[in-house]
Amino acid sequence: MTIQTVASTPFAGQRPGTSGLRKKVTEFQQPGYLENFVEAIFLTLGEGSGRTLVLGGDGRYFNREAVQTILRMAAAHGVARVLVGRGGILSTPAVSCVIRKHAAFGGIVLSASHNPGGPDGDFGIKYNIGNGGPAPEKLTEAIFANTQALASYRISDAPPVDLDVLGAVRIENTEVEVIDPVADYAQLMARLFDFDAIRTMFKSGFRMCFDAMHAVSGPYATAILEDMLGAPKGTVINGEPREDFGGGHPDPNPVNAAELIAIMSAPDAPDFGAASDGDGDRNMIVGRGIAVTPSDSLAIIAANATVAPGYAGGITGIARSMPTSAAADRVADALGISCFETPTGWKYFGNLMDANLATLCGEESYGTGSNHIREKDGLWAVLFWLNLLAVRAKSVSEILHEHWARFGRNYYSRHDYEAVDAAAADTMMAALRARLPDLAGRMLDGHHVAEADDFVYNDPVDGSVATRQGIRLIMSDGSRIVFRLSGTGTEGATIRLYLERYEPDPARHDIDTQEALARLAGIADEVSDLRRLTGRERPTVIT
Ligand code: G1P
Ligand code: ZN
Repeated sequence: MTIQTVASTPFAGQRPGTSGLRKKVTEFQQPGYLENFVEAIFLTLGEGSGRTLVLGGDGRYFNREAVQTILRMAAAHGVARVLVGRGGILSTPAVSCVIRKHAAFGGIVLSASHNPGGPDGDFGIKYNIGNGGPAPEKLTEAIFANTQALASYRISDAPPVDLDVLGAVRIENTEVEVIDPVADYAQLMARLFDFDAIRTMFKSGFRMCFDAMHAVSGPYATAILEDMLGAPKGTVINGEPREDFGGGHPDPNPVNAAELIAIMSAPDAPDFGAASDGDGDRNMIVGRGIAVTPSDSLAIIAANATVAPGYAGGITGIARSMPTSAAADRVADALGISCFETPTGWKYFGNLMDANLATLCGEESYGTGSNHIREKDGLWAVLFWLNLLAVRAKSVSEILHEHWARFGRNYYSRHDYEAVDAAAADTMMAALRARLPDLAGRMLDGHHVAEADDFVYNDPVDGSVATRQGIRLIMSDGSRIVFRLSGTGTEGATIRLYLERYEPDPARHDIDTQEALARLAGIADEVSDLRRLTGRERPTVIT
């Protein structure tokens, strides 16, 4: 075994986006492409001796190859110890959990989250810091700068490690330990939730369907729900992780998890349904015949946090991304705690949780989590709901309606226009930005625009400022229209249009969501000229 220095030249476009570097698999397969990015990570982190690194991914195509490359590079950079999930598998929340539990220096997550996988699909790589959360922008920018400056990378020529056998091996002076990807995570969940109550509920005939969408959550959900909590075999469907996610789009929303929605809409539907995404950090909660929006789920978890033993002492605060509905704000008000509004992306929650300002965090994009780790956590949300259902002994629909009756309902929807022409999307955003001063104070189809701005976040902990985080029209009645461009797409641009309207009257809590938001959608098109500029008649996906 020797350490080689391989000459290399920078690749364009290695700037990490909302959640790490995401590109087509074919781009990652270019010789030196992955190596350059990993070299830049190690250059940024500095000397590796004495440090432990966690490594794993969602099992998508190219995962195993990338793991082997990174192990050999970690060895070349003097990392003392690498904890790698068996089979190269670790869900994103499990990486966060393992980093924290083993006091690792950081971790590398291999995933493109909910983006499709396979030879023609996407791949991704992300660095997480010692608190278990995504690297802050300062660090990702430093990594990017290094990708553009390097002239070589260092790698050991050691043979591949057998990733399927638990235990420790050595590459150069680095100890590589293949760990059970589920154990640490499952133990943490058992501490947070009332497993006895959930077990009793399953024993008494409660039925559930968990759709793992052939992604990384399969082994976690099977171990926890079926083996530990006694849910009947078959509760987890599509539980085998596959390199191409079975050809599906592993994004748990009513459009992509159509199989689950069909099961939950059937006359003999189970009591509870849930799904999670490619790397296990997203979740969708479904009742019999009713899907819970992620914004409502966050608010309901916050309002009921103390049912779970891990949160019995109450919560210190809530944080939500700006486009997420204000349903959680109403709960925070009632509890007398703060609700922070952050830019899109889980990395903005880290400081708030580290400073103990927020216990629960959520995003409208099917992301919910708490300060138990520093990533969103799909199965965590599902277990919270199971705990809640076991304690309250009510249906999902009853819990939802009671919540709305108490706090009012925030009708909410996101319209995505995917893979649109990037120049057209930029033109639209620039024109909107230019119009903001003129839009403030206007009446638009019966709505008075109270504020029109481009969201700026001032981090209350480290004082950092994030600008241009989404264009907002806030109406006097609290309704909102938000436009932003996706930072995770890999093809053209994706325009996200977020619509929200508050309805206090319980007699009007069962209107169809799109109908309830139709006027706002009309205003959005008029002010942005979206349809004309993009040539799109309707959104690609509505959630
Ligand atoms: C999307 C979601 C965002 C989430 C991110 C990573 O980012 O909108 O909430 O944090 O994926 O899962 P976007 O493509 O909008 O930049
Ligand atoms: Zn994800």
